[in-house]
Amino acid sequence: MRTSSAVSSSVVIVAITVLMAACGDGGSGQTLPPPPPPTASPDVRADYLVGQMTLDEKIHMVHGGAALDWWAHTLPRGGGGWIQGNTRLNIPDLYFADGSAGVNWGVGQATALPSSIASAASWDLDLAYRYGKVIGTELSAYGINVNLGGNINNTGREPRDGRTFETKGEDPILAGKITAAHLKAIQDQYVMGGIKHFSLNDQETGRTTANVGIDDRSARESDLLAFEIGIKDSNVQSVMCSYNLTNSDWSCENSYLLNTVLKGDWAFPGFVMSDWDATHSTIKAAQNGLDLEQPENIYFDSNLKQAVQNGQVPQSRLDNMVHRILRAMFASGLFDHPQTIHAIDAAGDAAIAQEAEEQGAVLLKNNGLLPLDSATVSSIAVIGSHADIAVLSGGGSGQVQPVGGQAPIDVGVKPCPPCWSQVVWDPSSPLTAIQAKAPGAIVQYDDGTNAASAAALAAVSNVAIVFLSQWESEGMDVPTLNFTDVIHSSPIDQDALVSAVAAANTHTIVVMENNGPKVMPWLPNVSGVLEAWYPGQRGGEAIANILFGDVNPSGKLPLTFPASVNDLPRPTIAQPPDSTTPFPVDYTIDGFNVGYKWYEVNGLTPLFPFGYGLSYTTFAITNPQLSANTAGSSPSFQVSFDLQNMGARAGAEVAQVYLELPAGTGEAKRLVGWQKVWLTPNQQQNITIQINASDSSHPLSYWDTSAHAWLVPSGTFTVYLGNSSRNLITVGSFQIP
Ligand code: BGC
Repeated sequence: MRTSSAVSSSVVIVAITVLMAACGDGGSGQTLPPPPPPTASPDVRADYLVGQMTLDEKIHMVHGGAALDWWAHTLPRGGGGWIQGNTRLNIPDLYFADGSAGVNWGVGQATALPSSIASAASWDLDLAYRYGKVIGTELSAYGINVNLGGNINNTGREPRDGRTFETKGEDPILAGKITAAHLKAIQDQYVMGGIKHFSLNDQETGRTTANVGIDDRSARESDLLAFEIGIKDSNVQSVMCSYNLTNSDWSCENSYLLNTVLKGDWAFPGFVMSDWDATHSTIKAAQNGLDLEQPENIYFDSNLKQAVQNGQVPQSRLDNMVHRILRAMFASGLFDHPQTIHAIDAAGDAAIAQEAEEQGAVLLKNNGLLPLDSATVSSIAVIGSHADIAVLSGGGSGQVQPVGGQAPIDVGVKPCPPCWSQVVWDPSSPLTAIQAKAPGAIVQYDDGTNAASAAALAAVSNVAIVFLSQWESEGMDVPTLNFTDVIHSSPIDQDALVSAVAAANTHTIVVMENNGPKVMPWLPNVSGVLEAWYPGQRGGEAIANILFGDVNPSGKLPLTFPASVNDLPRPTIAQPPDSTTPFPVDYTIDGFNVGYKWYEVNGLTPLFPFGYGLSYTTFAITNPQLSANTAGSSPSFQVSFDLQNMGARAGAEVAQVYLELPAGTGEAKRLVGWQKVWLTPNQQQNITIQINASDSSHPLSYWDTSAHAWLVPSGTFTVYLGNSSRNLITVGSFQIP
């Protein structure tokens, strides 16, 4: 009896569904008006849908779902967030997943690219586009249609930030343009891009309660400028607001940041989603600019519905939230280009991973030992950091599960759970790659756990290559800039290891696999230093290619390497008193002079300056010329020069243009343009770099708080050209009346 009634009621349900589908409305009882054609604008198409939606359907669009475990990535398709689609209105599901150096680990095995900071260090926008394309195509292959990448926080303010590897460094223009190239590529795959964490989320220590104090001009010219460029140059559709507070308001309910700056001044048409659990209220957050609560439904589900019904949040604001999300989906092609799940192009993408590392690794020191000559080197000691089988990667939501699975290394102390922040070694062997380069040499490995044994091996080898590694992750900062071992149960003193090896063999080279800037007490005693960052799953091959000269290094630092933590604007990282009380983090100390500008205005000499990086050849800049067009409301100038490769190897140089604004502005020199140029031996090329005041980077302007506008000041502008922020010639100057 029970069975037959169940059967008959399901027959009735099926019959009703078929009938409703025939009516064309899926269940509301009313026939839907015809939708606008696909050629209509995203705004028109979004308005149409908002016009058909019930209150419940609208509320459904503006929050995640608490029922599913996003933390363990058990959501559909393994991402970090999910909003089920609306079948009545043919609105597709939204699948959210991280991906700053490859698809997030929870989704599936993916190409582990070198870290984003390495992409920035290439200073190559075309390569950055291809880097982003790997992320976009692989997300799409897994059926993920919203990316939570685009971390553009300013790690120049806090180089000990555990997420430095996800970022693009300290300069707003370089970071903004590199991020925009990543995002354009992702969006070209019909995956909605995202940029985060808006804003001033520059330290992980106490990240959910840090209360950043900063003035408007400083924010506009530093952290916010990077976002402005990244958003405007890429047309990215989603912005993730951050955990921290700014000037005592949580980022996800900060009307100034969200309504005035982002949606007002920048006319951002997309939507703002909270970082995971960064929502703190219903009415205030909705009114102050948050459009989507993620990943839960604590504030923007029944609480928001009630607030709309009470009139505490106007219906028009809820409609605007939904409009922004739908508009972003149309603009990103999510309706018109649904994804088909398929295998990733592992081989093609691995080649790009290798190229990104080869172009992003930075040669910091070379006393002439590099490149190694396979014809003359007869024995090599490879030491430390599991270089026999792997290279290190960074942890947190930016973590990738590499193709082929992670290297089988049990490091003893695994901070897992939480598994979103685990130590993953990518399966790429520097030792094997080095052996392949020098088939006639004896290549031996020492794990570096005993400095005396490593030194003994170095003593009987022609060359010693010491691999240093520093694991870092989202959710942590490191207290010092020295290499510290936070993962092995018996921590290795890596500085002592290098010193012991260098004392045993003057031909010692250090390769660093790390998150961001480091100090190097052993620097005078080693022959060469290569900053490999977290080099990705083809890191071993890329490093060997550079060490043996098959690739001529051309990366340049996107971050200053300070000489000491004492030179930082905040030598000690501000600490939270407990897990709930907001605590001050003072960004007025460096203000708008962040990163290399801080070192310049304070007369501090860095260990390695922003923009610095060596090559196996040398380049000469001659015949620099400046021409400026200062008439009209949008001035511009051009720097022309001859760049010549003076050596016997092909290579690339990054020519960098810096501009000093009139003295009264208090601005330090700023990077305003660059070009990466590839030249064969002795080749000379005439280069012109054009700078327009109207560019999204506001290169000739300062932010005038009382005018609430970017203004080009009157006075003398001085133009510099060179290959680092500290190796510049004066090209000339021009006046703006
Ligand atoms: C991180 C975000 C990330 C989100 C989802 C948060 O903890 O701060 O960057 O997108 O988790 O994984």
